[in-house]
Amino acid sequence: MNTLAPAGPLAQAVADMAWVLIAGASVIFLAMMGLLAFTLRRPPGGQAAPVDGARSDRRWLVLGGLVLPALVLLPLLAYTASTSLAWMPAQWQAAGAGPGGPRWVVSVTGRMWWWEVHYRDAASGRVVALANEVRLPVGQPVVLGLNSADVIHSFWVPQLAGKVDMVPGRVHQLVLQADEPGIYRGQCAEFCGEQHARMALHVIALPPGQFEAWLQTQASDAVPPRAGSPEARGQAVFTQQRCNACHAVRGLPGGGAAPPGMAPDLTHVGGRLHLGAGTLPMSTDHLQAWVAHTQRLKPGARMPQHAQMDQASLRALAAYLASLE
Ligand code: CUA
Repeated sequence: MNTLAPAGPLAQAVADMAWVLIAGASVIFLAMMGLLAFTLRRPPGGQAAPVDGARSDRRWLVLGGLVLPALVLLPLLAYTASTSLAWMPAQWQAAGAGPGGPRWVVSVTGRMWWWEVHYRDAASGRVVALANEVRLPVGQPVVLGLNSADVIHSFWVPQLAGKVDMVPGRVHQLVLQADEPGIYRGQCAEFCGEQHARMALHVIALPPGQFEAWLQTQASDAVPPRAGSPEARGQAVFTQQRCNACHAVRGLPGGGAAPPGMAPDLTHVGGRLHLGAGTLPMSTDHLQAWVAHTQRLKPGARMPQHAQMDQASLRALAAYLASLE
């Protein structure tokens, strides 16, 4: 999470601007410290320097309070204004957004306290629902449409782009591009309630071929577990416990009927890196702990916990969820 370690051209522009502003701030700081040292100087002989009353005071006020800040701040203001104005058009050009439009449109909706993600393939029109993770093809700009379903959140992946607020009723656009494969952590950057701190998001940049294969997998329905396996038992628990009233699992009979946006789509939950929006690394044990003790792990989360469920059912349910890759 370091703005000054950019991993793509759009983040590079933000880092460049940060360095220019840091340099400008340093000039003012050094000049002020120089003035301070000057005023504290002790003249030879230990006598205070003679002071020329009001005229001297006014000169210092004008030089230190007006001329020096103006010399540094006005150029910085002009620089940031012109850079920012050129920003959106340059992003859109990079993303190939024009009459043809970009290939991928990714919408990210902030929710208390997770990220609902949809990929739309402009070529086929197919929409894929995901959660808490955004994957990108390396070296290709991807346009994000950011909004919120409840309160104001803020989308921030410091190594890939600047920070953009997610406001209910509005769609803000942002372009992400990563130059190297890797995992880039993001974080909600606007206080949005008690679990604001556990609202992390991961952006994973993949080589283009791997990205296409991943997206194809995500678009496919869940593979039904083998009859008689622990996963099949877990699937039965999933529907008995009415997990599917809130969580969609595409391909599961009755599993795609959850209201959109109610809770994360679980069709390929086992393939994600984390659960609970960055709360725990993905594993069967953590899935089990999450279902049983949601309110201990993330107090206030909308999901009710199932601490009363028997261990065998919990284990089977966790095995089923982990198998949904
Ligand atoms: Cu969402 Cu802070």
